[in-house]
Amino acid sequence: MANVSLTVNGIKQKVNASPDLVLLDLLREQLGLTGTKQSCDRKGQCGACTVIVDGKAVRSCLKKVADLDGAEVITVEGLGTPDNPHLIQEAFVLAGAIQCGFCTPGMIMATKALLDQNPNPDNAAIKKALARNLCRCTGYVKIIDAVKLAGKFLRGETTPEKIKATIDKKKMIGQNHPRPSAYIKACGVAKFGGDYKLDNPLEIAAVHSTEFHAIIKSIDSSAAKKMPGVVGVMTAEDIKGTNRVRVIFPDQPVLCEDKVRAYGDPVAIVAADTAAHARAAAAAVKVTYEKLPVMKTPAEAMAPGAVQIHPHAPNLVYEQPQIKGDAEKALKEAAFVVEHDFSTQMNHQAALEPEACICYFEGDTLVVVGRSIMIHAHAGIIKEAVGAEKIRYIEPFSGGQFGIKASISSEGIAAAAAMHWKRPIRYIPTLEESFLITSKRHPFDIQGKLTADAKGNITSYFNEFIMNKGAYFLLGFIMPGRALHMLNGSYNIPNVKAKVKLVYTNNGSGGAARGAGPPQVMFALESMVDMLAEKLKMDPLEFRKKNLLKVGQGQTRSTGSPIEQTSMPELMDDFKPHYERAKKDAAAFNKQGGNIKRGVGIACMSFGIAEAGDRADNSIEINPDDTITIYAAIADPGEGNDSMLTQLVAQVLGVPLERLRLYTRDTEKTVAAGPSAGSRQTYMGGGAMVNGAEQMAKAMKEAGGKTYAALKKAGKPTRFEGVKTAAGKEGFDVNGQSPSFESQVHNIQMAEVEVNTETGAVKVLKMTTAVDAGPIIHPQNLEGQLEGGMDQGIGYALREEFVLGKTKDWNTFKFPTINDSCEVEFITRETPRLHGTLGSTGIGEMTMVSTAPAVTNAIYNACGARVYHLPATPDKVKATLKK
Ligand code: FES
Ligand code: FES
Repeated sequence: MANVSLTVNGIKQKVNASPDLVLLDLLREQLGLTGTKQSCDRKGQCGACTVIVDGKAVRSCLKKVADLDGAEVITVEGLGTPDNPHLIQEAFVLAGAIQCGFCTPGMIMATKALLDQNPNPDNAAIKKALARNLCRCTGYVKIIDAVKLAGKFLRGETTPEKIKATIDKKKMIGQNHPRPSAYIKACGVAKFGGDYKLDNPLEIAAVHSTEFHAIIKSIDSSAAKKMPGVVGVMTAEDIKGTNRVRVIFPDQPVLCEDKVRAYGDPVAIVAADTAAHARAAAAAVKVTYEKLPVMKTPAEAMAPGAVQIHPHAPNLVYEQPQIKGDAEKALKEAAFVVEHDFSTQMNHQAALEPEACICYFEGDTLVVVGRSIMIHAHAGIIKEAVGAEKIRYIEPFSGGQFGIKASISSEGIAAAAAMHWKRPIRYIPTLEESFLITSKRHPFDIQGKLTADAKGNITSYFNEFIMNKGAYFLLGFIMPGRALHMLNGSYNIPNVKAKVKLVYTNNGSGGAARGAGPPQVMFALESMVDMLAEKLKMDPLEFRKKNLLKVGQGQTRSTGSPIEQTSMPELMDDFKPHYERAKKDAAAFNKQGGNIKRGVGIACMSFGIAEAGDRADNSIEINPDDTITIYAAIADPGEGNDSMLTQLVAQVLGVPLERLRLYTRDTEKTVAAGPSAGSRQTYMGGGAMVNGAEQMAKAMKEAGGKTYAALKKAGKPTRFEGVKTAAGKEGFDVNGQSPSFESQVHNIQMAEVEVNTETGAVKVLKMTTAVDAGPIIHPQNLEGQLEGGMDQGIGYALREEFVLGKTKDWNTFKFPTINDSCEVEFITRETPRLHGTLGSTGIGEMTMVSTAPAVTNAIYNACGARVYHLPATPDKVKATLKK
């Protein structure tokens, strides 16, 4: 042990430090400074733990406290407070650089160290300084803006007051009002799951399967139970509930009973006094397996004689055809045909925060503080699984989402432990463990064929796609359903013959992931649209425009349902000059010769919002002090739902934002508003909020005042329930025909790339997107979604791949860094949607969908290498070029 004296945020601290105590643990666990975050497993990969030590940015997970005698440490809490923020914290808020906010403290500290040394850094200097700080939400664009703005503040060139003065306080919609949570996130005081402190908690770790498919013969925990600090070990037989995480099928156990079906399946839980003791003991639990044949791919799982993974269903667990018109006849009559096989990889949503969950009891109520984006639904599932009588679900701030939080991961394990030991439980899995217990983006194998007549009209589309479901059903029918609902993209395709097969395997379980179904099928369709345009000798933009789906005229989506409105033709007109400029630039560059070739690729999307029959509910109440509380179970893991709700209510009621309160993260006092997924919350949750606010506005008008007293005096209610429903009833008939999404968001997107024809390396230089999501509520939030979606799309297109058992950290995942970010440009239209929320619709996923095909089309345009199998790694591009 070493006696160490150091200063933390100006306060002297004396620490008796063990040789392995790192600064991150001193700050978070001993000093309660939880603004400093941890994402990677202390490997120096994420930068979330960045603090300043003696004037330099340092990753606190790598810094031994024993080496810090006499050091001066500054953390994000030492810079400023929400009431008195530092200028850098102000800059991050005002530039719109904070989405989930998990990376923010580390980014701000790295920025401080940079600006202290270099008050006016250029882009290259900013990228160098932040190269080790990861962000999954922003695409880094607004982070670079924030660093530049902070520099301006510090150099005295402008002030936060001047920036705030550019926001019209009288206008609620279309203005960049700071997000309700932005200052607390910037100052490191927003509580994420791992930041909660409990009285006398048990720390737990799970024992995970080391086999992909095996029968559990025995679990020997005798050695583990004798290890330091261990309180006990529990297995499936200790769970009093159903032990099933039942979203649709009850096929996923909280803890495996007799069999494991994928590498990483949880088998037992160890509880101890510290996380380190729990993890050490978990490693000492001996599980004996009898191996079964392993089937990681659908082909293996569907092979004759393949072992059935689950007793309740065959490995081919779900099939749905989609038939519209007569595709075979159209094929026979077609003048042009393109066809090819495509595949997409398994991917991880890569939210930066590990899957933290804590549980405790309030009387006989089990309280789960988890990372759900649908707290009411998940509360019910957990209650049944672990046998709780009463349950309350609280959602802390969470570090990114992108679909991963539509499935239960750590919460089932933590809740089972709380029920067993009747003690508060803290479960903060490592990143490596988080990878094992979370859902993934499904890999697809696609057989596609697209035909056109001699005039260049698309006549038919064939698509048989097989989805690798992985070991558990999770959201089962939903992703294939979404893929079928949006199969035709933005186009009028009169004849469709498609089929989806969903296949259980011994691989990671597919769940929701930004776009959730359409990104995979759109990669194939938008590639084939380019291939067909080339055969027709038509420009890809002209060919797309000619084939756009129109309102009326008997035209329908692949589901047979018509659309109510579209602005795609106008968007394409807006987009065209940018496209022509890009083509000219690339041609001029390529004239110079050399190994580096530039290319331009485009892709469209008309993304469905609000599936038929969708519903959201919430409430609004005026309080005796005239504040107004929004009660809505609407998660905001970064997209800006808190802004959306407050701005809509302020707009409808004509009251200032300061009068509004948000109560959105707790099953108590809220009702279900559905998941913060599928880009649906602006349209559905926001629509329900507007409905409630309009009722309150009417009552206020009739009462002649906007106060609690006025409503009471007029005998009016003070609380109003808002609801929004989407028309129709979803459900495919035998031919996959169905009412479809009530609204759509449209875009056309362009990638400008450079390909090194010697190495196959691809660099995306610029992304341009033309978007129409209706009236813009918060411009920065809209841009943040577009930028973040494109950044994830580029990662998906070029490098990211999750391999179960092999992907163990952010480096092996190939997490995009600030050095991978590119220039972006937006073109927006604001066509009010017929049933939109004050005309608006959702935006969160769309640019992710169009990015991968735009990038691969651009690669082809640059060098003639068409990549059919994502990701388009240098090896694949090079191999395709050789062919
Ligand atoms: S936790 Fe320190 S770099 Fe990731
Ligand atoms: S805002 Fe950077 S990870 Fe979410």
